[in-house]
Amino acid sequence: MNTELSRRTFLKQAGLAGAAFGFPAFVRAAAPNGKVQVAAVGVDGMGFSDLRSIVTHPKMQYVAFCDIDSTHFGKADAAVPGVPHFADFRVMLDKLGSSIDAVNIAIPDHMHAMVAVEAMKRGKHVYVQKPLAHTVWEIRQMRKWAEKKNLVTQMGNQIHSALVYRLATRLIQDGAIGKVREVHSWVGVSGNEYSRLLEPPASGRAPASMNWDHWIGCAPMREYAPDVYHPFAWRDWQDFGSGALGDFGCHILDPVFTSLRLNAPLTVSADNTGINRHIWPSAETIHYVFPGNSLTAGSTLKVTWTDGGLRPTRQLAQLPSDLDLPRSGSLFIGELGNMVLPHYSAPRLYPQEKFKSFVYPKDVVGLNHWHSWIDAILQGGKTSDGFHYAGPLAETVQLGNVATRVPRIPKSRRGKKPEDDLETRTAAILEWDAENCRVKNNPVANGLLTKKYRRGWEVTPA
Ligand SMILES: NC(=O)c1ccc[n+]([C@@H]2O[C@H](COP(=O)([O-])OP(=O)(O)OC[C@H]3O[C@@H](n4cnc5c(N)ncnc54)[C@H](O)[C@@H]3O)[C@@H](O)[C@H]2O)c1
Repeated sequence: MNTELSRRTFLKQAGLAGAAFGFPAFVRAAAPNGKVQVAAVGVDGMGFSDLRSIVTHPKMQYVAFCDIDSTHFGKADAAVPGVPHFADFRVMLDKLGSSIDAVNIAIPDHMHAMVAVEAMKRGKHVYVQKPLAHTVWEIRQMRKWAEKKNLVTQMGNQIHSALVYRLATRLIQDGAIGKVREVHSWVGVSGNEYSRLLEPPASGRAPASMNWDHWIGCAPMREYAPDVYHPFAWRDWQDFGSGALGDFGCHILDPVFTSLRLNAPLTVSADNTGINRHIWPSAETIHYVFPGNSLTAGSTLKVTWTDGGLRPTRQLAQLPSDLDLPRSGSLFIGELGNMVLPHYSAPRLYPQEKFKSFVYPKDVVGLNHWHSWIDAILQGGKTSDGFHYAGPLAETVQLGNVATRVPRIPKSRRGKKPEDDLETRTAAILEWDAENCRVKNNPVANGLLTKKYRRGWEVTPA
């Protein structure tokens, strides 16, 4: 038999033409119904939201639900009855083996990389919640694993596919405000929003329904305490979450990245209200400088991130006196005008008078972020928010957190008295070597690109 002919006939019959062009098409021996078999890791919170969206794709089926808290299966079971439960993702991956094609990961940030890498090592396509992972090094390993195994990936910053962010991208790329001079992005929450603590509180007994050891996973062990870690409040703590920047940066900076075709910053520095080794600051400013391109006014582009109530002024945006900037969003300052993009709703152009007859394009459409992932798996395509794009965005976000944790330099080095407060210290400007994934000029920052792993919970480098 002519093997090449029979392979082509098979692909054609299976409707998998993409494979013939070298894409990672969906060819799996154990797919009798032609559906992508998905496992979900983390089924409450955002995991449940992902599940509700993924399950509406007609060519997928759930084959496993995994969660370290048994009380969290109820909603998922009601939505999709009869799916087997697992308490440990490693047991799930080993036991189900090739009957899992793809894994959706929606657990606290500190464990994203470990679960994603274990899945990708075994050839599973992954949809991983923002901010992709907890450290820059982890994100880089995830990019490399995805490439090495030729997998379809997607970051869970679903607004990337929404009409309003796609419209904003179109306006910038069509030159509605001319070349862009600078961008300000901000979120109205703070980095220690949920616990409002400075130190880990007195411990309590973990509920019998959950496995605290597995929730801690790769992080340094600490005692369980009610209400401040599991669920949701883990965000505030450096060991588990990524602060306000990590929580919202991959959403709010995403249209900045897409529209201006950004990849990696040249430098990053941070100012904040004060930080200790446990929690993220309650307010901060991150200064990024990116290389310029044909869409920017200068040879470099400043992008400024603020959170915890800090945001640009109405005057900078040239808003009328009866309008204020949204609580969260971005302000693009262009040579011909400004664009305000609230998080998340339709972009608006200012000054109002100048753009009063502006005709917004009508042909921009929103896409289904979750379905795009499943479709790409089925058709052997590529997602727009795969790790080739989402990796550099997420690395930039976590690089901001590195800058936040780098000790400030005493201004005494510039001839003033050293005193340990923010007024007398200045932010270190980190020079980023994206290709080699290292900070060129600051060994402390290089140390903060990664973290120490609890024994037995290491992330395998690619
Ligand atoms: N894209 C968005 O709009 C959006 C919104 C909220 C959260 N998120 C992201 O989703 C992820 C989860 O956030 P959340 O707010 O839902 O958190 P959460 O703590 O409310 O929920 C996490 C879920 O994962 C389970 N879990 C925890 N550790 C686990 C492990 N090791 N194995 C299996 N299950 C585990 C928990 O029991 C819980 O069901 C985070 O990365 C967060 O940044 C994204």
